[in-house]
Amino acid sequence: MTKTTERFPIEAVREQFPAMKRMHNGKPVAYLDGPGGSQVVKSSMDAIYAYMANGGANLHGPFPSSRETEQLIASAKEAVAQMFRADPEEVAFGANMTTLTYAIARALGRKWQAGDEIVVSELDHRANVDPWLAIAKDRGMTVRWLKVDPHTLTLQLDDLDTILTSKTKLIAVGLASNAVGTINNLPLLSQKAREKGILVAVDAVHATPHFAIDRDEIGADLLLCSAYKFFGPHVGIAVIRKPLFEALDVYKLAPAPTFIPDKLETGTQNHEGIAGIRPAIEFVASFGTGDALSEQIRSGFALLEDYENQLAEKLRSGLKKIDGLTLYQAEDHVPKTPTIAFRIDGFEPHDICTRLCEEHSIFIAYGDFYASTLAEKLGINENGGWIRAGLAPYNTEEEVERLIRGLQEIVAN
Ligand SMILES: Cc1ncc(COP(=O)(O)O)c(C=O)c1O
Repeated sequence: MTKTTERFPIEAVREQFPAMKRMHNGKPVAYLDGPGGSQVVKSSMDAIYAYMANGGANLHGPFPSSRETEQLIASAKEAVAQMFRADPEEVAFGANMTTLTYAIARALGRKWQAGDEIVVSELDHRANVDPWLAIAKDRGMTVRWLKVDPHTLTLQLDDLDTILTSKTKLIAVGLASNAVGTINNLPLLSQKAREKGILVAVDAVHATPHFAIDRDEIGADLLLCSAYKFFGPHVGIAVIRKPLFEALDVYKLAPAPTFIPDKLETGTQNHEGIAGIRPAIEFVASFGTGDALSEQIRSGFALLEDYENQLAEKLRSGLKKIDGLTLYQAEDHVPKTPTIAFRIDGFEPHDICTRLCEEHSIFIAYGDFYASTLAEKLGINENGGWIRAGLAPYNTEEEVERLIRGLQEIVAN
């Protein structure tokens, strides 16, 4: 065992995730599809149950459960704001990241016109591409693509100055790739955008569970994420810079007020889901130090990140020794999440994942994970997609070893 993994309270972490008790074919399940959705921490489940068991309510009622619902939503927004160093007024909830992005794109697009330009990236999940393509099509806008280098698996930033023009309204870019784990240089990108008065929409869905994010440091005017990727329930989260949010011309439907952040929250929200958000954030904070929640979140993430990176290194070096295995990851010096995509010559990803599941109780996914543009560029889909191992703080060295051993066995027979 390495020093960090020795220090990391893995048993205490696992005890907080009821799903760790699940067995498959007589063996404990190893969950390696965190990027598809992490497992949920018990405190989050308990809060969801408690909200419903104590009498849930709609807003604005002159009775305690209604007032409690309002307080609960406010408390969840406060926790999200602490996580990104934003203001609770800038935080809105919705069904998921994709739906929120779609609504925001439509609202922003009301002020855009033919000839305006928008920039999307080839590395991104389509959730941060298609809503922008749709509004660009409706408005007759020009779409420019920020290219990904298929060899380095990083965005090509050298031609940024020509891609961003005086007509560009917005650049949509991910903080980290959910397929290959590359962490993009957002401070650089957003600075270039800011110099030209261009809005930056950041998809932080994949990054959020892996490291502390400072909204201002990465220069996000819009930041989107989803609580089900960071140990919580299925609720989408949008953090929108206040002046932009105030000016945002969302379609006014009667069941939504005109003020921020509620104006983006059409209809009754998923109150029980929202109840589970703060505990998920506090789970991260529980590993941290300091007085303020924001500091605890930051230092908590540092510990989790360190542990995940140790596991990821072990996994990468084990995978590199397997015959015919190709790793799809950026060079060593490029920061990455512990999300590792690979393929093995002569084997179908679907078959490998099924065998890992049935023979080793490893739940691991394959496909293009909606990083479709990168996948197309690499010809990945013609060959059944990538296999993706995504690590989370509840994963163990034994699980990493089990995956490596399982793959060695498959390759050997
Ligand atoms: C990087 C990334 N962006 C966006 C999404 C879409 O998020 P949601 O399911 O909340 O719409 C995902 C989901 O897998 C993702 O990984």
